[in-house]
Amino acid sequence: MRLSAYLLNLLLFCFAAEVPAQQTPPNVDSLIARMSLEEKIGQMTQIDLGVIARGSICNLEQPQALDSLKLAAAITKYHIGSVLNVGCGSGAMSMERWRDILSQIHAANKRLSRLNIPIIYGIDAIHGANYTLGSTLFPQQIGLAATWDTALVRRVFAASAYETRAGGTPWNFSPVLDVARQPLWSRFFETFGADVLLCSRMATAAVLGLQGNNPAAPHSVAACMKHFLGYGIPLSGKDRTPAWIPDRELRAYFAPPFQAAINQGAMTLMVNSGAINGIPVHANQDILTGLLRKELGFEGVAVSDWEDIHKLVQVHQVAPNLKEAVYMSISAGLDMSMTPNDFAFCTLLAELVREGRISEQRIDSSVRRILLLKTKLGLFETPMYEAASYQDFASAKHKQLNYEAAAASLTLLKNEASVLPLKPRERIFVCGPAAHSMHLLNGAWSRTWQGTDTSFSHLPGQTIAACLSQVQGTNFVADDSKCTDLKQLMRLAKGSDKIVICLAEQPGTEIPGNIDDLNLPKPQQELVQALTGLGKPIILVCCFGRPRIIHEQAATSDAVLYAYLPGDEGGRAIADALCGRINPSGRLPFTYPRTANEFVHYDHTASEEIHTDFSNTAYRPEFDFGAGLSYTRFRYDTLLVSDTSIGIQDSVVLSVHVSNTGSRSGQETVQLYYRDQVASITPAVKKLAAFRKIQLEPGAQGTVQFVLRPSDFAFVGKNLKYTIEPGVVTLQVDRFHQNINIR
Ligand code: BGC
Repeated sequence: MRLSAYLLNLLLFCFAAEVPAQQTPPNVDSLIARMSLEEKIGQMTQIDLGVIARGSICNLEQPQALDSLKLAAAITKYHIGSVLNVGCGSGAMSMERWRDILSQIHAANKRLSRLNIPIIYGIDAIHGANYTLGSTLFPQQIGLAATWDTALVRRVFAASAYETRAGGTPWNFSPVLDVARQPLWSRFFETFGADVLLCSRMATAAVLGLQGNNPAAPHSVAACMKHFLGYGIPLSGKDRTPAWIPDRELRAYFAPPFQAAINQGAMTLMVNSGAINGIPVHANQDILTGLLRKELGFEGVAVSDWEDIHKLVQVHQVAPNLKEAVYMSISAGLDMSMTPNDFAFCTLLAELVREGRISEQRIDSSVRRILLLKTKLGLFETPMYEAASYQDFASAKHKQLNYEAAAASLTLLKNEASVLPLKPRERIFVCGPAAHSMHLLNGAWSRTWQGTDTSFSHLPGQTIAACLSQVQGTNFVADDSKCTDLKQLMRLAKGSDKIVICLAEQPGTEIPGNIDDLNLPKPQQELVQALTGLGKPIILVCCFGRPRIIHEQAATSDAVLYAYLPGDEGGRAIADALCGRINPSGRLPFTYPRTANEFVHYDHTASEEIHTDFSNTAYRPEFDFGAGLSYTRFRYDTLLVSDTSIGIQDSVVLSVHVSNTGSRSGQETVQLYYRDQVASITPAVKKLAAFRKIQLEPGAQGTVQFVLRPSDFAFVGKNLKYTIEPGVVTLQVDRFHQNINIR
């Protein structure tokens, strides 16, 4: 036994040095015709790296290494089609180590598998190649959405694809296209926010960035839009707890970003781990086949989320045993099972086919999609490109892009008496949990799954406090790094002109990221309160993954700069924004609640505005969707429409004049909203119809034009189809309104 393991290792490692081209892409159908049932089912199986690594699952040997016997069994006995992740949530590895591990897998597959079908590796590269040491860690998606700049977001996703494929991985479990309608949810920061249109535009940008024009190119990866569908609104706010979403809302609020990504050619999709209306999505044929395939037209690969077939038995309790769970999810429409820790899926699915409960044709349709994915990614020819193709990994170019994205996301929500920007010789006291931390700027999915391991926080020169000292001058910046108690901190703060408090959230995602209360954690409330007592101007910098309630703190502070989770360049961007080297231009991609129980979104209905005194004043968020200030001023002059009455096939051109009346160059996001005055389904009081971010120099004036069609005001009707009804629609930009009549 020992000897054979040794020989096998030797063989594997001999082949691991380089990964030669395997073969020209086959005709997928003729390949399927040559495959045994077990080989087909193997293609539908995805295992975690831990299953083929040395040690036991979740107790792997470190540094991680492949176990050649386990790998050989996975290939020869189970014919696995895919491997994912980092091995039971363990930390990141160097690019070289990744390449080494992946080449060993490819080499073993080439040598041991009968048909030599490449194994596809998938990973969560959520804000950059976060599981590769030294990679560029970009702002989390919520910050990217706040840029309202789709071209910039596309470039960020392209760089993320580049650094992911540099480590050998051609499949990225990103972007998250869940619309975050529940601010308590632990994965709020992973989304593009709460608005359907903004999420959809960002979805398109993300897919374009990840897949490029040719997903087989060395710098592209396959996108995996997730988590289909309705994951972003768990009723309790806790991850993977039930959502209750009527079919109409499912289509109106949650499907559009997926539709946008599908239209852009997104190659794969991951299924929502939760249940909607009592039915786990992994067992829901209406959603996974009816809605996804027939209505939205998705032709790519649908992979399960982590262990979700097992969860149909253990968590959701809709299947009496694993075999029935496999039956349910394959019948519902799943293509690949992220099994990920055992091979029971393979055995049980084969039994189901032999018993005639699942047809081999059904298996073939999934295998065809998986093989097409591998073909389109060029994996048959090149399972992994040369390391030399990746000179820009973590390059200065990517660092600069990272800085640009972080800078563009920063959202100035309050700036009383122009307390910001800081003046050159002002003495600043900077404190708070995010002031000295990199992992609080990055959040989860940063070197480790939860992002809490501070040993990965190696960039002391890039914290907010360090960067502020560099910009403002070390003589003028004091910080709380040496303070052991609040009294000492207050003494130091007394000597300053202004106080910057960097608030934060503990990193966390999925179930470990659940919290019970949106309120700012008590110690941070006390810190703000104590420092406010000094009577000096207070500037809050909020590094939050979700809108923690800051009603009292914002009221007693002079400025609020919302930074989201801005990534490795966040400290530099924040310091530059505080000191006025950059002019903030981010806009909120969600409605910021005033209290922990207030979840009314900007696109609410009129009934949600009725206050206890029956006035229409109940909608009073802390900060509105789309809010964001600048160090300059923008003035809107007119909103002109080309026509006030249009037919269903017509279009209307809207022209908006906006000028920079301040003294600094700045970027303004022109936001066009609409309100359907009467509709058969209660309309929202306001909905985003279009937006454009423009740059204006002081004194300059710009004209932005939007072309809209009645279909832009369509809504999902009672029949679950998009409907356009005649009537009056009010368009709004800034304080201007214009009515148009749809005939
Ligand atoms: C998460 C997914 C992720 C997958 C693989 C799951 O727990 O919900 O978003 O892609 O794990 O790591």
